[in-house]
Amino acid sequence: MKRRIVLLLACIALIAAVSSCKTMRAVEPANPVKAPALGVEDAKVEPVKFKGVTAILGAFRAEVTLLQDELIDRQEHIIEGIKFAAGKLNGRDAVVVWTGVGKVNAAMTTTLLIEHFKPREIIFTGIAGGVDPELYPGDIVIAEKTAHHDMGTVWPEGLFFKGVKNRLTNLENPVFFRADERLLKLAERAASKAGLMKIETVDGPREPKILRGVVVTGDVFVASEKKRRELRKRLDADAVEMEGAAVAQICYQRKIPHVVIRSISDKADAGAVVDKQMFYILASQNSSSLVSEMMLLAGS
Ligand code: ADE
Repeated sequence: MKRRIVLLLACIALIAAVSSCKTMRAVEPANPVKAPALGVEDAKVEPVKFKGVTAILGAFRAEVTLLQDELIDRQEHIIEGIKFAAGKLNGRDAVVVWTGVGKVNAAMTTTLLIEHFKPREIIFTGIAGGVDPELYPGDIVIAEKTAHHDMGTVWPEGLFFKGVKNRLTNLENPVFFRADERLLKLAERAASKAGLMKIETVDGPREPKILRGVVVTGDVFVASEKKRRELRKRLDADAVEMEGAAVAQICYQRKIPHVVIRSISDKADAGAVVDKQMFYILASQNSSSLVSEMMLLAGS
């Protein structure tokens, strides 16, 4: 009998020990090790409150470096591991930030930006796939409106586009977010003065086409003629990218004027990955030249 009791107690002790190991494994460390942010080691770390700056965002490093390098009296601020470069851009107070690719990265960075810099307006600059078949690398789409091309309900008949509810008002967001008219006009004026780069064609250098149009956004790189046609047919899209509507949605919900400027790097077809590699420098440069000119025209 005594032996049985001892055996039973030993079993209970063993079960208790095993389950406490499980619990220990599930507990988060009190001070989790933070991964160092890329390329931000030398920058200032304290968050700084700003008011009334123009915020400029881009998804690729190349897209923002061009503008960050133009900043006068540049100061760098690291917030949550993201580097925000502030200074004067062509005489106007600006903050320039690299978001990373995709809607979640863009939304995270935009929110940090709004909280810490209180921008008067937000401009997104970068490259896009051409959905309008008449567009070629280096051409520019000034987005009159943007839409998520992957938001809504997938019925057996296909995707039905529908905005989600604005978390702040509980009202349903529109499918298309309109850009600010003043910024659209400013971008159009800047386009004619920006000295954009031309691509070489068999007929000689091609003057970049400037278009006020529709830019659609999704968390996928489009390299499919079928999808390109679908975006053209269903949303009347001129260009496709991966961040614009996410930033536009936040601006809509927070009542901040915005515009998305995109230069074409590829035709969103089967050759898109190769074309993007070939033309993204030219396209990034054209988009950022236009934004830089906008700052000059807007003045301080
Ligand atoms: N950005 C540049 N080209 C793109 C494409 N084809 N699809 C999505 N985003 C892009």
